[in-house]
Amino acid sequence: MSAEKTENLSWIDKRFPLTETWRAHLSEYYAPKNLNFWSFFGSLAILTLVIQIVTGIWLAMSYKPDADLAFASVEYIMRDVDWGWVIRYMHSTGASAFFIVIYMHMFRGLLWGSYRKPRELLWIIGVVIYLVMMATAFFGYLLPWGQMSYWGAQVIVNLFAAVPGIGEDLSVWVRGDYVISDATLNRFFAFHFLLPFLLVGLVFMHIVALHHVGSNNPDGIEIKQGPKGNKWSDKAPADGIPFHPYYTVKDLMGVVVFLALFSVVMFFMPTFGGLFLEPPNFQPANPMQTPAHIAPVWYFTPFYAMLRAVPPMWDSQFPGVVVMFAAILILFVLPWLDRSPVKSMRYKGPIFKWATAIFAVSFVVLAWLGMQPVSDLYTLLAQIFTTLYFAYFLLMPIYSALDKTKPVPERVTS
Ligand code: HEM
Repeated sequence: MSAEKTENLSWIDKRFPLTETWRAHLSEYYAPKNLNFWSFFGSLAILTLVIQIVTGIWLAMSYKPDADLAFASVEYIMRDVDWGWVIRYMHSTGASAFFIVIYMHMFRGLLWGSYRKPRELLWIIGVVIYLVMMATAFFGYLLPWGQMSYWGAQVIVNLFAAVPGIGEDLSVWVRGDYVISDATLNRFFAFHFLLPFLLVGLVFMHIVALHHVGSNNPDGIEIKQGPKGNKWSDKAPADGIPFHPYYTVKDLMGVVVFLALFSVVMFFMPTFGGLFLEPPNFQPANPMQTPAHIAPVWYFTPFYAMLRAVPPMWDSQFPGVVVMFAAILILFVLPWLDRSPVKSMRYKGPIFKWATAIFAVSFVVLAWLGMQPVSDLYTLLAQIFTTLYFAYFLLMPIYSALDKTKPVPERVTS
């Protein structure tokens, strides 16, 4: 590095820990040498968050959060704003891509046991991130003011009315009106603009927590507790390699593949068969005409299926609302449900492996069921798979303790 550059850097370093931070979090942050495909999704989640914030700000420059103008302003963005259709499709594709990446990222956590000690708080921050992502997506979904935007919001906000005692007032408070209206649209736009910046803060905390405890790996072995010394440093974990340049380059490869797939969807199939952009949402919201079938976007449908699986009690949907929220909140206690002596699925026994497979299948089937019109058969199936979803968590303290595990090696395996 030139003398001048070194001088500039030391001037900065005296006033801001730039080199120190670079070293602590990148060039001298030692990550396990056997990270694989499943480690791409953290950096892809960061990339997608950036795509959503940048395209969102650009959309906000032409979008009108007004019930009379909103739908037309999206049409205006699509047809008249220079490259408006690219920005809009990047945002709509980005919303689904974000959830695909996050579900893969969370599933990796289940496979590697990355919610276990010492990563309980890292996982909990993750679950908070997931909740804020869902709220952001829900608020954003109303903004195009299409038929499904309007009626989807009507259904979900009406769930608040099911809360005993305070429900009616709560739902009016959330809407700002007795029905979904211009007031609702304005406040949802405000929240949809604000929450991504809260997400940025949470992701910062998430990564600080990660770098404090260290990255897990497919073997679930704590490399920090293993032998020390590698070709970069005598003090570093023997099974660790510097995050930069090794994993930055590897993650870049993931980014290239992801952006290629993202572009194919965005340019050639932005509605993705009606999964990413639903046909009814190409009609402006009509409070006088209820669509035959109302369903949220695919990333919410597993929970929507659970809501519909629970029969109303005393004419109240409250039990269904409780089950739907419990399905997410139970993730907070996961670190304390798993009593297995090993972390990674590699060394867990057949019971845990089968339980995780059944859980994953249940989640996917529930996602499909949540998109279907109501029928007795689908309701019965939703009840069965909702039970299997909760059984994965509620029975975990038992089957994880009974499970016959395999011995975990001393050092990480490739
Ligand atoms: C905006 C959303 C998110 C971003 C940007 C993000 C980012 C990251 C990054 C960069 C890593 C390190 C690389 C990797 O191992 O993948 C990571 C690790 C991790 N994340 Fe996230 N994350 C997000 C959401 C979540 C959620 C929703 C959860 C769980 C509910 C979660 C749980 C974890 C865990 C447990 C690890 C540690 C993995 C390990 O060491 O094995 N994250 N995250």
